Amino acid sequence: MTGITTEQQQRLAAAALDSRHRAYAPYSNFFVGAAVLTEQGAIFEGCNIENASFGLTICAERAAIFAAIAAGDQQLMALAVATDGGYSPCGACRQVMAEFCDDLQVLLVDSADSSRIVQTRLDELLPLRFS
Ligand code: THU
Repeated sequence: MTGITTEQQQRLAAAALDSRHRAYAPYSNFFVGAAVLTEQGAIFEGCNIENASFGLTICAERAAIFAAIAAGDQQLMALAVATDGGYSPCGACRQVMAEFCDDLQVLLVDSADSSRIVQTRLDELLPLRFS
């Protein structure tokens, strides 16, 4: 699989950082933004949305992926996730990524230093996955 261009990486990271500003996280105060790039060239954003009934919370990555799927755009190329610290996606989000692509380029963006983007991919994050 060929990687996305530097310009696409920058647009995707910027979209994840932008989406993070819309996170609704009054319980954890951990604000997450995500963005997915599809083969059509579209970018879909998502943020974490918490609930007083904690288990109803949705992660930013799944919100972004579900926005793409709901728009009818299923060919996912890359996903960026922005957190304060540059954390990687949780296991549930990794499994959802696996549903919609063989492999996925993943960019970890640290909102405290957005010039530092760590690149990884689903094969590394979730090897030997159930499918
Ligand atoms: N969260 C995400 O949005 N993505 C992840 O991959 C891990 C966790 C959110 C869920 C919750 O709102 C907050 O971060 C703390 O767990």
